[in-house]
Amino acid sequence: PATSMEELVSLCKRRGFIFQGSEIYGGLQGFYDYGPLGVELKNNIKAAWWRSNVYERDDMEGLDASIIMHRQVLRHSGHEATFSDPMVDNKKTNKRYRLDHLVKDQKADVVAKVAEGIGADAGNFPAVIAALNANPAQASEALRAAGVRDPFSGEVGEWTEPKPFNMMFKTTIGPVADDESYGYLRPETAQGIFTNFKNVVDSTSRRLPFGIAQIGKAFRNEITPRNFIFRVRELEQMEIEFFCAPGTDEEWHQHWLEKRLSWWEAQGVPRSKIEILDVPKEDLAHYSKRTYDLMYDYPTLGHEEIEGIANRGDYDLGSHTKNQAELGLVSKVEENLDSIAKLTIPHPETNKPVVPFVIEPSAGVDRALLAVLSEAFTREILENGNERIVLKLRPHLAPIKVAVIPLARNKPELVELARRIKTDLQGLGLGRILLEDSGNIGKAYRRHDEVGTPYCVTVDFDTVGKGEDPSLTDTVTVRDRDTLAQERVKIADLSTHLQGKLR
Ligand code: GAP
Repeated sequence: PATSMEELVSLCKRRGFIFQGSEIYGGLQGFYDYGPLGVELKNNIKAAWWRSNVYERDDMEGLDASIIMHRQVLRHSGHEATFSDPMVDNKKTNKRYRLDHLVKDQKADVVAKVAEGIGADAGNFPAVIAALNANPAQASEALRAAGVRDPFSGEVGEWTEPKPFNMMFKTTIGPVADDESYGYLRPETAQGIFTNFKNVVDSTSRRLPFGIAQIGKAFRNEITPRNFIFRVRELEQMEIEFFCAPGTDEEWHQHWLEKRLSWWEAQGVPRSKIEILDVPKEDLAHYSKRTYDLMYDYPTLGHEEIEGIANRGDYDLGSHTKNQAELGLVSKVEENLDSIAKLTIPHPETNKPVVPFVIEPSAGVDRALLAVLSEAFTREILENGNERIVLKLRPHLAPIKVAVIPLARNKPELVELARRIKTDLQGLGLGRILLEDSGNIGKAYRRHDEVGTPYCVTVDFDTVGKGEDPSLTDTVTVRDRDTLAQERVKIADLSTHLQGKLR
């Protein structure tokens, strides 16, 4: 695995996985663009998730809802009121920071002084932040007295009181920009699932328990985006809302915890690298009854959330439904006089209409890609003493499945045959097959090791009957990324050979 974030960032840029967004204008913080290989890897991760959670189950439907949503959706979801992080401003530099990020970035002795100043236990970081939030007036004094420095200027700052900062992006809809004509870019894909609950039930005749899966972009105006693609403002999520009868929710929560851990394992992210955090009550999101956070051990960052698996109870459908009073809701929801739909389904035993409970496994695509890359990243010392970097990606995730390489780029005979082989292999539907005619075989192997191409197929003079050994005519060399073994395979057998290895 990778030992630092830096080596991953460098590989991603050098080989075309990920670029800074709007780079030619100086870049836009918190936005990244996926390059030629990044888009393939990302698509493959999403396809693996979809296969496992939609196609291989019999209790799941898919959905692709719109990104911009009616403001009432995000109001009744609770996001307008509570989807915020505490921030502080430095009056000297006019820079704004997320409170916990700012404190975390200070030296240990400064953090200890902040804790002392606000009367919290320095060993319990979340408690320090909670205390700062609870006493805004004392908080700015505590930050000042401890000598909290501005990460931007490096100097001791003059800090304002912590204030909540709502992270939703708001946008004007239609030609008139008045107080009513706006919507929000969804901060989680989940809301599109809740607002379509009735549509999906009515059109598919689903009964409990069943789930709806969705992959898509979500947007959060993070105060301090950082750590490469770990915390971005435009992110992608893979989310399931699994609807079940009240009382069966805890069992389903465990089911999904197990399912998700084994899925990560199948992507090359082992259980031993994931800590399960049973999120303390005081840290739960506004909708959650209980949440497990899967904390992957990222290089440089340490254990950070890669996926959250929440029990959202009946909070969401209960918030978005009409006739709330008559539905016996368990979660505490705000009154809703705007909804025109009743979001119930027959209880599997009593057949009486019920607002189901929801278990929600929610994984970030960008964080998944970072973890997958990090696990695959390998530095090896070869027998000849040379070092090679190789991405040992699972074949189903590899951006390029096979590179077909003519040994010499100026020999039309070799290039033509390589192109024919490429076209045949492409027809198998395994994913991207690349014709690699850059001319330098050593460089081509190095590049394909670094981007994780499982097999390189080389067309040489023997292949076309112009080499030393006539018995090698109509055969090619197949090189294995991980073992470096090279074997001669008949062109006629190549499809079956590679299909067997790549499926
Ligand atoms: N619908 C539930 C939900 O959105 P969350 O814990 O806020 O829960 C779920 O987000 C996942 O989305 C996280 O586990 C993480 O993988 C990803 N995620 C959240 N914020 C992100 C950000 N700013 N940048 C990248 N990924 C993010």
